[in-house]
Amino acid sequence: MQIEKAQPLVPAETVVAIDGPAGSGKSTTARALAERLGLLYVDTGAMYRALTWAAQQAGIAVSDETNLVQLLRESDLRLESRQRETLVYWNGRDISAVIRTPEIEADVSAVSAHSDVRIVLVEKQRQFGRKQGVVMEGRDIGSVVFPLADAKIFLDASLEARTQRRLRQHQRNNTQIDVAELRQEMQERDRKDSERAQSPLTIPPDAIVIDNSDMTLGEQLDITTEAVLQIIEQKQPSIPSPGSPSANLTFRYRVAYGIMSVVGDFCGMKVYDRHWADMDEGKIIAPNHVSNWDPPMLATALRNIGHCRSIAKEELFRPLWGKLMYNFLHAVPIKRSIYDSHAFDRAAEYLGEGQNIVFFPEGMRRVFGSPGPVRNGLGMLMQRTGAAAVPIFFRGTTAPEPGGSSRSPLEARFAPPVRLHALPSLRERMSEREINQSVSNLFRAIYIELQDRSFAAIPMTEWEMEIAAKQESKVRRKEAKTFKRRQNRAES
Ligand code: DC
Repeated sequence: MQIEKAQPLVPAETVVAIDGPAGSGKSTTARALAERLGLLYVDTGAMYRALTWAAQQAGIAVSDETNLVQLLRESDLRLESRQRETLVYWNGRDISAVIRTPEIEADVSAVSAHSDVRIVLVEKQRQFGRKQGVVMEGRDIGSVVFPLADAKIFLDASLEARTQRRLRQHQRNNTQIDVAELRQEMQERDRKDSERAQSPLTIPPDAIVIDNSDMTLGEQLDITTEAVLQIIEQKQPSIPSPGSPSANLTFRYRVAYGIMSVVGDFCGMKVYDRHWADMDEGKIIAPNHVSNWDPPMLATALRNIGHCRSIAKEELFRPLWGKLMYNFLHAVPIKRSIYDSHAFDRAAEYLGEGQNIVFFPEGMRRVFGSPGPVRNGLGMLMQRTGAAAVPIFFRGTTAPEPGGSSRSPLEARFAPPVRLHALPSLRERMSEREINQSVSNLFRAIYIELQDRSFAAIPMTEWEMEIAAKQESKVRRKEAKTFKRRQNRAES
């Protein structure tokens, strides 16, 4: 008899991010999900709790960031995943039980609010995901630790349901606690975790939100598994059906891509993961912007992707060559100094028809090496149309050279399409502007992640560092000029 091994539900390197407030069932769900998907389970809250415990032992105040970081750097913090629990070791000592007490819970939010503490722990967390597939739970996993996680889930539950769960947990550990006090303490911790400046608890806009207040554990696990599989499935490339607007490469585009992509090929451009833009629907192509060479280089990257109307600053349509080229490509001019509703109306209309839109969401060229900030337009367009956006990271476009440049490798890295799964839940809690900001934050984090991957393959060159420094001082001078102009205007 031949016994066939069951097919795993997801690839072994899959990264699943689970975020949510205290008591939302993250640990139970994430652990069971990891088992079901055959992935490693990592509880990041345990890391912040462990540091809080060690600080209390060493008599370090929760406000003393310098000494907290030193303590963390000098110690050996290890997590070991078991089927029913996570074992936590501090310098070899098992502290798994002692980090689950009310004394730790009273201090852990303050410890986790320090940015330098987070930098050290986030790096440790990323190392888990680089080595193998994980289900990682916490507060900032989808927004900061893994902005490109394969699937993101935000678990939520009413304060009452969460309080009851924590109460049962304390009772199991034989800890006496007053319900009213516990409820208030949890509310206070949610507030601190959500309002802190560094990586606050937030719903990643591309997460599926699950309110499990009235669910059994089994239901919670089934619904979460389904949501994870759904997100992964929706990202899979699909070949546009012949004749669909997103596939339809008109004669004009054939000519334009043909001419412009010669330049990219000639300069040895490398394109990574272009397949992520293969979708049978209109999408937003969203590259970072560092150089005037980005638009022509995009032609090389997009050659097989189909017709893409660009949103381009209106200044480009003024010179004769611009008029000819941008009109020839049916590009959409945009005014950058104001909210240009006409440009967004047109872009939304084209997306609705199933066409692709190219949009540089940073709104202007930024300093190489420090992507962002990302402006609000991308979030607005995504909210309005429901279209997915495919992030692209450009490198080397500041110095393309025939045959390839040793000063700055020329490449475009595509990321999987981002969809605003959380939109209905976000709309219940946030203004439109706040949602735009949250989309902007996510895209900035994605560009930084793609850049990190690029630098991991080829570290930032000396020439790139010089260029970045020059661009940075140019930006500073520009900002100083604008500030002075505004000041003079206010005085007169
Ligand atoms: O999930 P938990 O209750 O074990 O988390 C303990 C604390 O750690 C929580 O108050 C917030 C903080 N935390 C965080 O800031 N970021 C994470 N990724 C995980 C937890």
